[in-house]
Amino acid sequence: MYGNAYIDPNERPDFLKDEDPIKLAEFEARINAGEKIEPQDWMPKMYRKQLIRMIEQHAHSEIIGALPEGTWITRAPGFRRKLALMAKVQDEVGHAQLLYSAAETLGKPREEMINDLITGKSKYSNVFNYPALTWADSAVIAWLIDAGAIVNQLANSKGSYGPYCRALERICYEESFHLKYGHDNVVHLATGTPKQRQMVQDALTRWWPPIMHFFGPSDKISVHSEILMGWKVKMASNDEMRQTFLDMYVPKIWDLDLVLPDPNLKKNAETNLWEYTEPDWEEFKRVINGDGPCNAERLAVRRMAEEKGRWVRKAIMGQGASYVRPFA
Ligand code: COA
Repeated sequence: MYGNAYIDPNERPDFLKDEDPIKLAEFEARINAGEKIEPQDWMPKMYRKQLIRMIEQHAHSEIIGALPEGTWITRAPGFRRKLALMAKVQDEVGHAQLLYSAAETLGKPREEMINDLITGKSKYSNVFNYPALTWADSAVIAWLIDAGAIVNQLANSKGSYGPYCRALERICYEESFHLKYGHDNVVHLATGTPKQRQMVQDALTRWWPPIMHFFGPSDKISVHSEILMGWKVKMASNDEMRQTFLDMYVPKIWDLDLVLPDPNLKKNAETNLWEYTEPDWEEFKRVINGDGPCNAERLAVRRMAEEKGRWVRKAIMGQGASYVRPFA
């Protein structure tokens, strides 16, 4: 089990074999005591590697996540909703800045992270590879995907790596506002004309499978959960996060008389757990590996932004520098 000192070299997994056992024991004791690990502290190579992978993917998700909703800024129904959506999209890009800065504290330059995104080497959240076809889609994204993000980020903000936790705390304040904005939009449509109700129902039906995927593969097939949970980077497993989300939001969705497209979705009174149709993990794998409905379009936009922004970065930072680091 990770999270326990590997003093006995025979008990250590291969990726910890060359780590100093005393330092490793001290590191794990600090984590078990609830202390934060800071960038200058000693950490095992695998802890650093896993954190970079996860924070970087999270940062990419924020910056790509601005795209499906961003397309609705020019078409938002009314001035107030346009202003609110613009503010939300700006917030999401700001979250990416915070997270890239947190990942940089672990030694990976921002330029390399952006290159890994636009060349398709790095992943980002599955959900942002689907189109926001109608205004109701943008409402469902703002309510339920931001709700899912809060479930994940609130838990992980109590984790072990200081810079990531502090970024998550700040992000959660803003996401709470997004969630209220999204809920307001969904309620408006769900209590509106029959056409508006149908529009939000259709959007919910489209988004439910990607939302179920959002929390990651089931615990039986999750690759990194054991390590990340042992070192308190992830504070709950993928299935636990999914259950928390279902507990909090399915009743709210049903309250609006909306139908979730899963006939097997129900809470088991004995286990106190939600039962649902197993999400299609093959579809999930396809989407996160580049073959979703919008992957090519999303990366093309990021590549264009990278190209078109080059002269600005050069003007500010000089010929050699590529990136502005506002929080460094
Ligand atoms: N979208 C895209 N990829 C996902 C994913 C999702 N919703 N959920 C899991 N994956 C990927 C993982 O990155 C991993 O791929 P990799 O080995 O190539 O990096 C693979 O699927 C196996 O998943 P798992 O072992 O369960 O990964 P994990 O332990 O890192 O858990 C998350 C996945 C998303 C729950 C976790 O990384 C996390 O909490 N990330 C921070 C929050 C975040 O990124 N939110 C998204 C935007 S708000």
